[in-house]
Amino acid sequence: MPVRPFHTSSVQYIFQGNGVLATWWRRCSSEMRIRGSLVLLMHVLLCLVSGAYSGRTSSYVRNEFPSDDIPLEHESLAVPNGHNAPQQVHITQGDYDGKAVIISWVTALEPTRSEVFYGEQEKHYDRKAKGRMTNYTFYDYRSGYIHHCLVDSLEYNTKYYYKIGTGDSAREFWFQTPPAIDPDAPYTFGIIGDLGQTFNSLSTLQHYVKSGGQSVLYVGDLSYADKYEDNDGGRWDSWGRLVERSTAYQPWIWNSGNHEIEYMPDLGETSTFKPYLHRYATPYLASKSNSPMWYAVRRASAHIIVLSSYSPFVKFTPQYKWLKKELKRVDREETPWLIVLMHVPMYSSNDAHYMEGESMRVAFEEWFIKYDVDLVFAGHVHAYERSHRVSNVDYKVTSGSRYPVPDESAPVYITVGDGGNTEGLASRFNDPQPDYSAFRKASYGHSTLQLKNRTHAVYQWHRNDDGKHVLADKVVFHNQLEERPCVATGPH
Ligand SMILES: *[C@@H]1O[C@H](CO)[C@@H](O)[C@H](O)[C@H]1NC(C)=O
Ligand SMILES: *[C@@H]1O[C@H](CO)[C@@H](O)[C@H](O)[C@H]1NC(C)=O
Ligand SMILES: [Fe+2]
Repeated sequence: MPVRPFHTSSVQYIFQGNGVLATWWRRCSSEMRIRGSLVLLMHVLLCLVSGAYSGRTSSYVRNEFPSDDIPLEHESLAVPNGHNAPQQVHITQGDYDGKAVIISWVTALEPTRSEVFYGEQEKHYDRKAKGRMTNYTFYDYRSGYIHHCLVDSLEYNTKYYYKIGTGDSAREFWFQTPPAIDPDAPYTFGIIGDLGQTFNSLSTLQHYVKSGGQSVLYVGDLSYADKYEDNDGGRWDSWGRLVERSTAYQPWIWNSGNHEIEYMPDLGETSTFKPYLHRYATPYLASKSNSPMWYAVRRASAHIIVLSSYSPFVKFTPQYKWLKKELKRVDREETPWLIVLMHVPMYSSNDAHYMEGESMRVAFEEWFIKYDVDLVFAGHVHAYERSHRVSNVDYKVTSGSRYPVPDESAPVYITVGDGGNTEGLASRFNDPQPDYSAFRKASYGHSTLQLKNRTHAVYQWHRNDDGKHVLADKVVFHNQLEERPCVATGPH
C-alpha cells in the first residue's frame, strides 16, 4: 500500500482535537505533567498510527475504497464521445415553486449556442430555450464554456425529455417536474454533503441513485478541487462529469461550503466563490435574494431555505435581512415542511470543526424556534450526526444556562458531511456523547427524507461502508406544527 502524504488538514485536526488537553496541561503540577506527557505522547502516537485524527482512517483499513481521488482516466470521469460534446450536465430548480429548471453544461473546446431542445415525448423536441454562456480563468486554469439555460412554464408532475448539442455530439436526458405546491404532496429528497470525487464519493452517488430520491438537497463542499497544488480547475470538470449520472436527471438544490471559497491571493485569485458561481446557478432572484449564495425554493410540500455559512450573516447584513423576510413568507398551510440548509452545523459533537457553527447559531437559532423549523441539514463535518430537538437560546453569555435544553419547538439538526471526499472521515467525537446528540457515527453515506403528507415524514440515513449499502438510522418525523415528538426506530 502506498504511503500517504501527511495532509495539512491532519495537523489541524490534531491541534483542534487536543485543545482540551492543552488547557488541562497548563493547570497541572510538574509531577502530573511527566506522567501526563507519557499519556499524551502515547495518545498522539496511537492516533497517528490509527489515523484517527488524520480523518484518513479509511485509507489504512480499506484497500478497495481509499480516500484518494478517482484517477482522471477512470471511466466514471470519462469525457463523453463526440467533438466538443456537452458534459457536466446538471439541473437545478429554476423558480420559486418548481415549474422551471435551469439546465447547465460545459462545452470544453469551443463556444456553442446555449440552447436546449425539449418536449414531453422522447426524441420529439418541439420546444427550444436559449440561455447564456460564461467562462473564467483561475490562476493557470482556463475553464471551458459554461452554459446556463432557464426552461420555464413547465407543467407539474410531468416528464420532460431534453437534448443539448448537435449532430454526433448531441446528448439526451430527461427530468420529472414535482407535484404542484400542496400540503399533502408526497416527495422524496436526498441529502448529500461534502461529496468530493473518491471511490467513496462514487459509492455514495450510486447508492443515492438507487434510493428513489427525486431531488437532492446539497449541503456544500462539492469538488474539493482546491485540495490540489495551485488549485486544479480540471477537478471541477471531473466532478461535474462524476455527478452527471444524477444531476442531469433531477435538480440538485445547491449550497456552497468552505471548499468553494477559493480565495487564493498567492495565486492572484482575490475574489471568493469564483468557480462555484460560474458553474452552479441558483434561482435566487425568485426568492428576492440579492445573491446566488442564499435563497429559497418551494417544492411539493416543502419550503427550503439555503443559507451561506461563509457569507456575512450577522445583524443588518443582506443575508440576515433576506432571511428575516423569507421566514415571514413561509406559508405552512401550503408548505408544512420547513427545511433549512447550511454548510457548517450549529449542533455537532464531533471534534472536527467543533463550535465553528456557533456564530450562526447565535444569529439564527431564535428564528428557527420562532418559526418552528422542522429540520436543519448541514455538512462540513465528515461524519453523521442527528440531534434531539434542543435549543440554547437562553444562554446570554452573562446569564442563562449555557447548556442546550430539550425544546419541542426546536428543529432537529442533522449533519451529513459524509459524502466521501479526499479528506476522509472525522472519527473523533466528544466523549461522553452530549445530551443533545441522539445518534452519531463516522461512516460514509447519504440521507433520504420522504415527505408523506402534512404530518408525517420518514427520514433515513444510508451508510455505504466498503461499497455496501446499510440502513443505519431511521426516524419518523412529525411536522413541527403538529407538536408531537419524533419517534426514532433506529439505529439498526
Ligand atoms: C472566454 O472565451 C473567449 C472566447 O474563446 C475568450 O476570448 C476569453 O478570453 C475567455 N475569457 C476568459 C475569462 O477566459
Ligand atoms: C400521513 O402519513 C402517515 C404515514 O404514511 C399515515 O400514517 C397517516 O395516516 C397519514 N395522514 C393522513 C391524514 O393521511
Ligand atoms: Fe466543509
